[in-house]
Amino acid sequence: MRALSATTVLGEPIDRVDGPLKVTGAAAYPSDIAYRDLVHAVLVQSTIGAGTITAIHAEAAEAASGVLAVITYQNAPALAPAPMTGLGPSLPLPFRDNRVFHHGQHLAVVVANTHELAVAAARLVEIEYEEMTPVVGLDNPRAEALHNPWQADMRRGDPAAALASAEVIVDETYTIAAETNNPLGLFATVASWEGDRLTVHDSTQWTVMERQTLATVFDIPESGVRVLSPYLGGGFGAGLRVYPHVILTALAARVVGRPVKLVLTRPQMFTSVGHRPETQQRMKLGALQDGTLVAIDHGCTSALGIEGTNFGRVTVVTPPSYACPNVATHDHQVRLNIPNPGYMRGPGKTEGNFALESALDELSYKLRIDPIELRLRNFADVHPQSGLPWSSNALQECYRVGAERFGWSKRSPEIGSMREGHWLVGYGMAGVTFEVYQPSCEVRVSIHRDGSAYVRSAATDIGTGTYTIAAQLAAELLGLEVGQVNVEIGDSDLPTAPQSGGSGLATSLGGAIVDAAGNLLRAFLKTVADDDRSPLQGMSAEDVAVTNGRMAAIEDSSVGETYFDILERHKLDELSAGGEYNPSAGAPGIAGPAAFAARFAEVHIDPELGLVRIARFVTVVDGGRILNAKTARSQIIGATVMGIGMTLLEETVIDSATGRIANATFGDYLIPVNADVPVLDVVFVGKPDELSPVGSKGLGEIGLVGVSAAIANAVYHATGRRIRSLPITIDKLL
Ligand code: MOS
Repeated sequence: MRALSATTVLGEPIDRVDGPLKVTGAAAYPSDIAYRDLVHAVLVQSTIGAGTITAIHAEAAEAASGVLAVITYQNAPALAPAPMTGLGPSLPLPFRDNRVFHHGQHLAVVVANTHELAVAAARLVEIEYEEMTPVVGLDNPRAEALHNPWQADMRRGDPAAALASAEVIVDETYTIAAETNNPLGLFATVASWEGDRLTVHDSTQWTVMERQTLATVFDIPESGVRVLSPYLGGGFGAGLRVYPHVILTALAARVVGRPVKLVLTRPQMFTSVGHRPETQQRMKLGALQDGTLVAIDHGCTSALGIEGTNFGRVTVVTPPSYACPNVATHDHQVRLNIPNPGYMRGPGKTEGNFALESALDELSYKLRIDPIELRLRNFADVHPQSGLPWSSNALQECYRVGAERFGWSKRSPEIGSMREGHWLVGYGMAGVTFEVYQPSCEVRVSIHRDGSAYVRSAATDIGTGTYTIAAQLAAELLGLEVGQVNVEIGDSDLPTAPQSGGSGLATSLGGAIVDAAGNLLRAFLKTVADDDRSPLQGMSAEDVAVTNGRMAAIEDSSVGETYFDILERHKLDELSAGGEYNPSAGAPGIAGPAAFAARFAEVHIDPELGLVRIARFVTVVDGGRILNAKTARSQIIGATVMGIGMTLLEETVIDSATGRIANATFGDYLIPVNADVPVLDVVFVGKPDELSPVGSKGLGEIGLVGVSAAIANAVYHATGRRIRSLPITIDKLL
């Protein structure tokens, strides 16, 4: 079969295959799903930050026009305990009792014949509380602190001794405000029961995990639950967990005996689908005068909900990043009366990189060593924890290519020495080492007599290009046109797939497609193994190449026949084959895979007004094989915009007196607009990674990592102001 070393369609910057469906409105997002007898649910949320419910007055709402039910903890059918999932324990279930843990907690669901009637009736639900003072703020002395149960402390060498004997020390604290995943598509759920069978259309990044969770809490077999999520208006991690509103929609549908739709409002997005928790990091670096790192001690405290279960793996970036012999990390969490944090793009690693790469920049000024040179002196030739060779690592090339494209040599090292008119000019950079996660995945591939092919998997495309790369890869491996390949995904009934998250899906699904395509070609050859009329009789998959829907001998391409001929002669409508990728098999003696990047920012700062403008931004990424140059570049561009938001604008403000989110609208919670974003230069370097059958390493998150440090470092270069607290707002610069 075709080796991926000489590709024709894989990697090409083809347009998204789902693009026409999306721009014509033909792609049905969860909120577009309609049923004949569909009714609508609206949430009633807590207006206190902590306490207990003492009374619920639902009579007026129940009597309102068109209302079918008002469901609260007092009348809701009991749910079974939620399961462990692939991401640890489920979130606490809604409607268990009268306790209120955060402002915006869902306390009632009103179901009515129309959305408008449900909204009107929801306003009539009155809830009385016994209010307590919410525990808010990372440094709140009333907060319960815990050692992060998901991230054990690590240590190599003797960091304490190495810090004590280091020639130069950086010891600083970095804070990052909470920020909220805000996919443009409001999260929506449509739930429909037929007897004990449940169908859910949902904004989820993980259909199979949602099926498991719903089956468990409703105490029905998994085979009786179908979760559909073929199109999603963005995810960014908001769809990685089964949040309470999803369960409540299914619960409401069960109570009223009709299909129910629930669409979160924009303000409800801030309280309902997780967020990147506030963090405080202490970073200690010890170095020699020549720049050699001798010790790193990285600690983090991150916020957690009172009953939250998300891991805050912030320090996990540090051990693999540099060839430093003495490293320790510690992760702590504190429980606060806040909506449960979740996973927001590059969760943990993005925050950890900001502290690490800011501290290195601080060290570069103390030592008067160029920031790139400092990183090169500490480059990890082998994985610094395991000592094993990397499966692939083009980080040095990222620095070199990035410096060239950016014009780093034009940087004058003195602080505040570069100007353009009245603007102060700063250059900053950051390195990124991003160990990727590759879960196992299954897929089914088929070729039909009419010339069409199908790729089927439960995986979801969160807008990043999964449909497109799956079609390209199958076309490449089966010798078909991309247009012949239909990709059917986002359905838990299809072969099991992991989350579209953790930067792992393209590699995992791709690996499964490689396996399935090989199996399918073998199935065709097996079909003709005893067929005297087939020129392919007796050949094995290693003997044949595929092009234009035809299998032919590698030795002599005139010896072969088309898939159509084989199917027709054998009176088959189709042949199909399953495939899987199971990376847990691993590769002994090799470290990785890890993706790498270098980020370069030029900022312009108005010294009187404290305005920060990003003038230029250059990114060089080693993501292994690039499966589609256009969607890959879009991933990095989109993530860089997100990084600009995180660095300069985004902050979920929780009022300390009430626990209420004070800016839960797009009028108040600022995200970058076009005027905030310069032309973003993106380059890919590196080679296909040997640990993956397709050679990719994952691009979903790395585009966000390093943006903040590069910008903050540029701000320092321009102004001499070291801002260790994100976002870098005007008040911090004046
Ligand atoms: Mo991402 S937080 O893995 O969707």
